[in-house]
Amino acid sequence: MATALVTGASSGIGEATVRALLADGFTVYAAARRLDRMAPLAAAGAKLLSLDLTDDASIVAAMATIQAHGRLDVLVNNAGYGSYGALEDVPMAEARRQCEGNLFGLARLCQLALPMMRAQKSGKIVNVTSVGGKMWEPFGAWYHATKFAVEGLSDCLRMEVAPFGIDVIVIEPGAIRTEWSGIASDSLLHMSGATAYGPAAHQLAKLHAGANASRLSSPPEVVARTIAKSVRARHPRTRYATGGSAHTILFLRRILSDRMFDGLMRRVAASAG
Ligand SMILES: NC(=O)c1ccc[n+]([C@@H]2O[C@H](COP(=O)([O-])OP(=O)(O)OC[C@H]3O[C@@H](n4cnc5c(N)ncnc54)[C@H](OP(=O)(O)O)[C@@H]3O)[C@@H](O)[C@H]2O)c1
Repeated sequence: MATALVTGASSGIGEATVRALLADGFTVYAAARRLDRMAPLAAAGAKLLSLDLTDDASIVAAMATIQAHGRLDVLVNNAGYGSYGALEDVPMAEARRQCEGNLFGLARLCQLALPMMRAQKSGKIVNVTSVGGKMWEPFGAWYHATKFAVEGLSDCLRMEVAPFGIDVIVIEPGAIRTEWSGIASDSLLHMSGATAYGPAAHQLAKLHAGANASRLSSPPEVVARTIAKSVRARHPRTRYATGGSAHTILFLRRILSDRMFDGLMRRVAASAG
């Protein structure tokens, strides 16, 4: 049976993706740090893996379980969080943790998955970036740096592994109703709520905190359906923008100059009050 590994499966997009791939008949390994949160997925038929992407030993151990299983057809690199705060305020240790979680951990999983996929002469690596891999907002320097990086990494990797029958697909969600926005606004206030950047930081935190209530946001199942569709496709696109006004945001980014886009993002933040 075709086998998939989904990271960040304890919540949001990852959890919905596990359910979508189970429904499509995959054997699904669901990975995250919070095993207790994945109990309902185990009940639905997923196999649980403990995984901390900031810890190499944890990544190697998780992949050893998959190697023992003997097959990996689809790797969905979905786990991630938004580390927010003014660049001036964020300690470099937190910047490195953000890169470990969102970028290096993802790359390490690819390294460990590729020998199996090359041996099979097939496989799909699905990297969940964000519209934030192409646009920006203030106080998101490290988060956006990791998402821009995963966009570029995915393009390079796609060309490297194509000769082995392996495909790399980028998923770019817009605003999605998950735990992401609460984590991002908490980290923003923690880092910059009481610094020189405080007033603007409070404004953006309000916007993030309200994101899940916005009618412009989408439920995580929308992204999960796109991921499942890309996995089923014989000739998948290189990129899928999906949910939460992703297409509108990317269109505006394309047609506006950098400074016009800055102005738009400022007005959006100010609208939160
Ligand atoms: N929500 C949005 O608006 C949005 C928009 C664009 C892109 N995205 C991207 O979509 C992906 C999924 O996010 P989500 O919205 O579903 O957020 P979420 O509900 O907060 O889920 C994030 C998942 O990542 C896991 N995770 C975080 N740090 C980890 C680590 N060090 N090691 C292993 N797992 C870790 C969490 O599991 P544990 O804490 O249990 O480990 C959780 O399962 C992320 O890459 C995010 O950047 C989200």
